[in-house]
Amino acid sequence: MSELHVVTGAFGFTGKHVARRLLGCGVSVRTLTAHPDRSSELRSSIEVRPLQFTDVPRLASDLQGARVLYNTYWVRFAHGRTTYDSAVANSLALIRAAQEAGVERFVHVSITNPDEKSPLGYFRGKARVERALRESSLSHAILRPAVLFGDEGILINNIAWLLRRFPLFVVPGSGEYRLQPIFVEDLGDLMVAQGKRDDNSTTDAIGPETFTFNELVALVRRIVKSKSRVVHLPPTLALRMSQVIGALRRDVILTREEVDGLLADLLVTNSAPTGETKLSEWMAAHRDSLGRRYQSELARHF
Ligand SMILES: NC(=O)c1ccc[n+]([C@@H]2O[C@H](COP(=O)([O-])OP(=O)(O)OC[C@H]3O[C@@H](n4cnc5c(N)ncnc54)[C@H](OP(=O)(O)O)[C@@H]3O)[C@@H](O)[C@H]2O)c1
Repeated sequence: MSELHVVTGAFGFTGKHVARRLLGCGVSVRTLTAHPDRSSELRSSIEVRPLQFTDVPRLASDLQGARVLYNTYWVRFAHGRTTYDSAVANSLALIRAAQEAGVERFVHVSITNPDEKSPLGYFRGKARVERALRESSLSHAILRPAVLFGDEGILINNIAWLLRRFPLFVVPGSGEYRLQPIFVEDLGDLMVAQGKRDDNSTTDAIGPETFTFNELVALVRRIVKSKSRVVHLPPTLALRMSQVIGALRRDVILTREEVDGLLADLLVTNSAPTGETKLSEWMAAHRDSLGRRYQSELARHF
């Protein structure tokens, strides 16, 4: 019988690349997801259980038999009853359940520069979950991506969408803050490779190119042949404008926390690249589809 691994969100952005690789290696895959009906070519090859955190014994039984758990669960922003505190509590419940179920290896996705003292709930919460994992009895690997790009990526796709549709593109503040995007499939490779190891590690998951936000916008603009004028506005005003477009799309395009994280240069590290795919080359290869369709966080998750 083949080994069983569990992937949270195996029909989602990162999870599907992990699941696809595992299936390719002959591993049986179970997913925990709140969207069991999301269309996916992996649907018939994967066992589905609910992603829920209120009943920890049930969560443990849904993890029973798995050697490795790949955890992609997190929330991008607080909305309705979902908060960063609830995401932390849920993540801690998952870690507890994994220990109870006898999971051997926990591969966890975090963020660059998490910090329990951060004023930003995303970075603070991620740091708290990392600590819980380090304090657990689980053999673990923590991967810290900055920004992901790929087929269903939101940030870069929606920058392209805005540049294709509007005569003005607004950059919050100076735009001189930096990002190190990693290809989602490179992250999938790193996660599966970590699933095979048994040492505890924390690794920045960053691609080979570093961009200032200004450079990134200029590159996307060139690639999608946008005529949009790029203007710089104070962050609060830029955010206000994104809220107007967000209201039209019934989505949240950008949050105050995301702007503050960018401005504080939290999406850049001093580490050597761990991903190989260049965003510039990937965008050039996807120039026709990039930004054609808006990608909505709220439609996907709320
Ligand atoms: N995307 C990026 O640019 C980026 C950058 C840095 C770090 N990360 C980290 O990378 C990991 C994977 O990100 P991803 O973009 O690939 O995520 P994703 O596929 O959109 O979601 C991953 C998992 O989290 C669940 N989830 C997401 N939002 C939720 C919400 N509001 N309420 C309840 N469940 C929610 C999903 O549930 P369902 O299975 O029900 O869909 C799925 O199981 C996350 O830990 C994220 O923090 C992402």
